Amino acid sequence: MAERVFVTGGAGYVGSVCVEYLVEHGYEVLVYDNLSSGHSEALVQGAKIEQGDLADRVHLTKVLKTFEPDFVMHFAASCLVGESFRKPLAYYQNNIVNGLNLVSAMLDLGIEALVFSSSCAVYGEPRSIPMKEDDPKEPINPYGKTKLAFEFLLEDCDKAYGLRSVSLRYFNAAGATRLLGEDHDPETHIIPNVIKVALGQAAQVTVFGNDYPTPDGTCIRDFVHVSDLAVAHERALDILRQGRSERLNLGNGEGFSVLDVIRAVEQVTSKQIPFTMGRRRRGDPAVLVASAEKAARELGWQPAHRSLEDIVETAWKWHREHPYGYKS
Ligand SMILES: NC(=O)c1ccc[n+]([C@@H]2O[C@H](COP(=O)([O-])OP(=O)(O)OC[C@H]3O[C@@H](n4cnc5c(N)ncnc54)[C@H](O)[C@@H]3O)[C@@H](O)[C@H]2O)c1
Repeated sequence: MAERVFVTGGAGYVGSVCVEYLVEHGYEVLVYDNLSSGHSEALVQGAKIEQGDLADRVHLTKVLKTFEPDFVMHFAASCLVGESFRKPLAYYQNNIVNGLNLVSAMLDLGIEALVFSSSCAVYGEPRSIPMKEDDPKEPINPYGKTKLAFEFLLEDCDKAYGLRSVSLRYFNAAGATRLLGEDHDPETHIIPNVIKVALGQAAQVTVFGNDYPTPDGTCIRDFVHVSDLAVAHERALDILRQGRSERLNLGNGEGFSVLDVIRAVEQVTSKQIPFTMGRRRRGDPAVLVASAEKAARELGWQPAHRSLEDIVETAWKWHREHPYGYKS
């Protein structure tokens, strides 16, 4: 019989691509999503959805009880760094209190295996590059603090109640599959924003800071393809099957600057991308690049999409076919 996976936030960007991969690989999937930033159109055939909010503990428990999942994947969160400074309580509420609802409902029902969407934001300003899982964790924005706090919660629930969990700390998720891509409002991620200029939907892109201690002065990030993230999630289930818990970085292990991204979009789209230099954004570290060695060892995982052009190409294709996102 197919194993069952309950996916919170499965109508969002990363969650929907993982759902697509799970369905293709024979899992029975139920998405639980309040559609606050997700899209019902992002649900592939074969996956079911229950519209609901993690804040609604009674409804959540009822749905979990009926579905009886073998595993839970927890993508649902509030995830805008800038907004987290302005509305920290909303972030603590959704990412911690609502997440706690999920974990306690799971434990009440004897469901003890969870994959959690954590983030490289748990580290803050790295002391060394590439960043390893045991490096100091000093998040510099409320969003990152909520992700780290939830990792602590999972660690303590493992010790006290035997809850197995794999926290996957993604670096910058990017790219698209044939059917599914990135559609956020507002969009804060660099690749879709540069693509908007290529599509003629914006006149120029703003580069947030060119006075960072990097070779070209702009921030450096590690872009990991969303399909590679999906593969890693499915492999993480093996760790849970072995009765273990882990915390793993998911990145490409290579950094690209904001100007590299603009050049890559120019190359892929054959369009010129005008840009202006803006001020630094609060809570943006200069360089974030993963060491992906532990994920390679633990999951036998190597990203298939290594080059920035390759990642941008998949995103460009999706955005060209969906110029206004899922509502296109
Ligand atoms: N996109 C990235 O680059 C990135 C990087 C690191 C970590 N992450 C983490 O990965 C996860 C997914 O990110 P994403 O970019 O796909 O975000 P997203 O906003 O596209 O998806 C989040 C989904 O969760 C749903 N949701 C939010 N709160 C909910 C609630 N209370 N109840 C039910 N559903 C709720 C939304 O409707 C949406 O479908 C998040 O936890 C995020 O913090 C993302």
